[in-house]
Amino acid sequence: MTTKQPFSSRRTTTSDDLEVSGYLEIATEKESHYTATGQTPQEVQEGIAIIDFGSQYSHLIARRVRELNVYSEVVPHNSRWQEVAPINPKGVILSGGPASVYDTGAPLAPGWIYERGIPILGICYGMQVLTHQLGGRVTPSLKREFGHAVLNQNVTNAPIFANLNSSIPVWMSHGDHIEQLPPGFKALAYTDNSPIAVMGNDTNIFGLQFHPEVSHTPQGKTVLENFLFRICGCNGTWTPQNFVPTAIAQIKAQVGNGQVICALSGGVDSAVTATLVHRAVGSQLTCIFVNNGLLRLEEAERVQDTFQRNLNIDLLYVDASERFLTRLKTIVDPEEKRKIIGEEFIRVFEDAATELRDAEFLAQGTLYPDVIESKTSESSSAVKIKTHHNVGGLPKGMKLKLVEPLRHLFKDEIRGVGEVLGLPPEIILRQPFPGPGLAIRVLGEVTKEKLEILRACDWIVIDEIKAANLYHQLWQTFAVLTDAKSVGVMGDNRTYRHVAAIRAVSSEDAMTADWARLPYEVLARISNRIVNEVSEVNRVVYDITSKPPGTIEWE
Ligand code: XMP
Repeated sequence: MTTKQPFSSRRTTTSDDLEVSGYLEIATEKESHYTATGQTPQEVQEGIAIIDFGSQYSHLIARRVRELNVYSEVVPHNSRWQEVAPINPKGVILSGGPASVYDTGAPLAPGWIYERGIPILGICYGMQVLTHQLGGRVTPSLKREFGHAVLNQNVTNAPIFANLNSSIPVWMSHGDHIEQLPPGFKALAYTDNSPIAVMGNDTNIFGLQFHPEVSHTPQGKTVLENFLFRICGCNGTWTPQNFVPTAIAQIKAQVGNGQVICALSGGVDSAVTATLVHRAVGSQLTCIFVNNGLLRLEEAERVQDTFQRNLNIDLLYVDASERFLTRLKTIVDPEEKRKIIGEEFIRVFEDAATELRDAEFLAQGTLYPDVIESKTSESSSAVKIKTHHNVGGLPKGMKLKLVEPLRHLFKDEIRGVGEVLGLPPEIILRQPFPGPGLAIRVLGEVTKEKLEILRACDWIVIDEIKAANLYHQLWQTFAVLTDAKSVGVMGDNRTYRHVAAIRAVSSEDAMTADWARLPYEVLARISNRIVNEVSEVNRVVYDITSKPPGTIEWE
């Protein structure tokens, strides 16, 4: 049944609003697929809900807020209050987005954000949404404002500007602009091209035409800090120290007396997951390390060694390489590879679980970007990029129940938790390695022969990057075996062999990445060594694509 509730803005609702209002769309929705963190309000003491209008920067806003020790989650723009309430929102941030508020079906904010009196900060499109919904006017600009601008304040005492100079550099990226303020709002700052670049009312609603979350707005963090602590009254309790006991208590509550198996990969995510679960339920946990035949050179041995030296937890080694490689035969489509690997992992765990005292739970180190990029229910306005094997690649009808204590954390937060748990730097600082392993770096069909070639190239890349002291400065460095062959000349002979690519990126959270400007000498050494030491490769190329538009992995 449709329950039409009044749209609670400061002006009379018109039939026009009723048609376009996101609020009414939500009011008619019986069941949303979105669920917030899953933690109860007592567990998330204070949160900021980031209403997502499809900006590439939405996750960046979440990161910036969390860097200020306040928990935040990106939620779909049509989320209902009940779905967001578990994070105990002390404030709401409306993200930017590609739409124009007057587009047919343009996403708008849900009515509860206005009804609940919670502080609101609208960023770019989010400011335009505020203006539109609260009775002001947004119009297309003759000139799109993109890039650096200088923001000048009109007022001296606005809380959103505390600790800032009266003029600051900011980053703009918008076409539409605010032509008329909503009733009760004042223009607080302007730029050359935007007479209303910041607006605010007398209570707790603010709009910024610029992006405080990007690094091109150097004082953006202070603006967000002002919003969180001066306007929302947050306390800044989101720290790894606080996270650890909460996570342990939650795992205990979820698992009870059940047996848990934990998929260990050797990386920081699964090591932190295993340690948390071990602290929560002790010997009810068994860790499994699966060799899927898609690991790097000597990786299986190294992981077992590191694990045994550093973590006092039982580790079961399962060699399932034949199983994986058989299923991957003839498969060339990247998504199909990912799905097969995800499914096979679960089947291996299920077999192990039956042998291991009928384990009921599977703990895995899924992290927030995996969730966002696999477009699960938690991020329904984001477009699916890849099926991360531990999120979207799970088979239907899986018997094991998932324990994912890191599902809402970014990588650097996980590293912080790892430090609090006392894990060694060799685990905490290891570069990420994807669950589907080398299968998504061998382009085309995965064969044993191609895997061997890639392993040899990859070893050289890592070896040289470590020798140049660059390993810890870069997010990831690895080799890719392309599906191409090229003609070369070695000695006096013609060769026709594989083309290998080098990938090296810097990144904060893998959601965006920049290709690394590796020194030419390092590139030269890698290239030389590969063509000399790996006889099946006669050409090496360097990938100079950032993310976006590329992704970090090639498949
Ligand atoms: P992309 O290629 O999507 O990768 O830019 C982003 C980050 O995620 C890693 N990655 C994965 N990690 N399971 C994982 O555990 C996966 O299926 C997966 N796919 C990509 C990738 O290495 C990079 O750090």
